[in-house]
Amino acid sequence: MSGLSRIGVAIDTGLLEKFDRLISERGYTNRSEAFRDLIRDDLVRKDAESPDSQVIGTVTLVYDHHVRLLQEKLTAIQHDHHHSILSTLHVHLDHDNCLEVLVVRGRSEEVRRVAAVLISTKGVKHGRLVITTTGAGFK
Ligand code: NI
Repeated sequence: MSGLSRIGVAIDTGLLEKFDRLISERGYTNRSEAFRDLIRDDLVRKDAESPDSQVIGTVTLVYDHHVRLLQEKLTAIQHDHHHSILSTLHVHLDHDNCLEVLVVRGRSEEVRRVAAVLISTKGVKHGRLVITTTGAGFK
């Protein structure tokens, strides 16, 4: 059963001031939504810890497409895991560098494995997996 509950939180004044500055910089207009987002973020993270949980997310990669066979390797890995990759976006950043964003979905363990293989491929300058939620079950 879902409803709205009110809670009181005792918090150190200095810590609360820092929190208020932080959330203001992030564009929050009230503490409640900031608290809710912190809680949701932790719940998403906890849920994704289970290898069998279904997750959705993005893998961001930056690489130099001149590195020998790198683009071919990254494409081959993506084809090997095509069930986990819903879509890709490729941006030519400059003469050398490419940015790729992959939307991934599937078992947490599988999504993490694909991301780890892509990010650890030699020549990838930076990579990051961000797991989020499909939104189902979240208010
Ligand atoms: Ni490119």
